[in-house]
Amino acid sequence: MKTIRVRLGTRSYDILIASGLLKELGRLLSNYGNFTKILIVTDKDVEKLYGPIVAETLAPYKPKVIALESASGGEGQKNLATVESLYHHLLGHGMDRRGLIVALGGGVVGDVAGYAAATFMRGVPYVQVPTTLVAQVDSSIGGKTAVNLPEGKNLVGCFYQPRAVFIDPDTLRTLPAGEVTEGMAEVIKYGVIRDPSLFRFLEEHLTGVLRLEPWHTERVITSCCKIKAWVVSKDEREETGLRSILNYGHTFGHALEALGGYKGYRHGQAVAMGMLLATRIAIKMGLAGDDLLGRQRDLLLRVGAPVDCKAEEVKQAFELLYRDKKVVGGRLRFVLPLRIGKVVLKEVSSELLTQEVL
Ligand SMILES: NC(=O)c1ccc[n+]([C@@H]2O[C@H](COP(=O)([O-])OP(=O)(O)OC[C@H]3O[C@@H](n4cnc5c(N)ncnc54)[C@H](O)[C@@H]3O)[C@@H](O)[C@H]2O)c1
Ligand SMILES: [Zn+2]
Repeated sequence: MKTIRVRLGTRSYDILIASGLLKELGRLLSNYGNFTKILIVTDKDVEKLYGPIVAETLAPYKPKVIALESASGGEGQKNLATVESLYHHLLGHGMDRRGLIVALGGGVVGDVAGYAAATFMRGVPYVQVPTTLVAQVDSSIGGKTAVNLPEGKNLVGCFYQPRAVFIDPDTLRTLPAGEVTEGMAEVIKYGVIRDPSLFRFLEEHLTGVLRLEPWHTERVITSCCKIKAWVVSKDEREETGLRSILNYGHTFGHALEALGGYKGYRHGQAVAMGMLLATRIAIKMGLAGDDLLGRQRDLLLRVGAPVDCKAEEVKQAFELLYRDKKVVGGRLRFVLPLRIGKVVLKEVSSELLTQEVL
């Protein structure tokens, strides 16, 4: 079992990573508090797959299970109506601050359950038990909770840290292939922003990683969680700028997602193209060498991510970015790579971006 500490003073917590951990959850939880009751928030697909194992290990707590409609095909359940229905379940189950919410599932479940936990009775404890690769390397760590509004994604939320994060990489074995690709784009991102040895490991062992062999997945997830834990410990609320390195590939990626009305490219696909575009900008600015592009492109291709964006799409995405009110004087800040393992935040002028496209 690997343990990583997210150091946040009184809000510090552990991330535990081990194959087969799920069936030990009840025993492990007892190290993190004397919880009087437990409410499990999950979705219907995850409940079918892992509900019985979790119900068995948590049996002494007589948990109640709330299964949201499965998130597949969108984020349908990530809204305030779901949060309100969770409040009613929490009340019905007699939840108070001595109880615990267990978020079992992907990022949608984690974000909604986390927000409900943050706001119900001004905050009740919760733990994350992420079951997608995206959730295991990203969304379950760092305490960002949120729901969507019709006007946009993640518009309502707050920072609220979990008591612990329990990661069982074996759960990834039931994921559809597309969900693995989604997570792998973020995994590759971690290598580029902070960890050359992770990047090399991926280059050398990608077959084993994609086969989800336990030794490989544990190694990769642990590296990603260490980086996220470190960044969050240093800049919990995005105040010093460090946390923005996690946005490598995301500025342009978000624009691509928005262009397609969130029905075109998926997040990981858009981030893959965003990373390559940021690299091309860095090369154009003389900050990085050509090989940086090739290594990322090869790896992204091997995980099944798209790497070639149409010139027209790039142009429209730039227009969208520069129309954004945050852009002052035609300059936009991008996270740009210098080499594998090192990125910087730099202003990029709209002229340079236009040249890049043409
Ligand atoms: N809070 C943060 O810091 C943060 C970071 C990144 C992403 N997010 C959010 O996370 C969400 C995306 O999360 P996601 O990619 O995990 O998607 P998701 O939660 O929609 O899950 C994807 C699909 O996989 C299914 N699934 C989950 N675990 C499974 C398993 N083990 N086997 C088979 N199927 C399984 C789910 O039912 C769902 O259909 C977005 O809403 C995004 O905004 C939040
Ligand atoms: Zn992302």
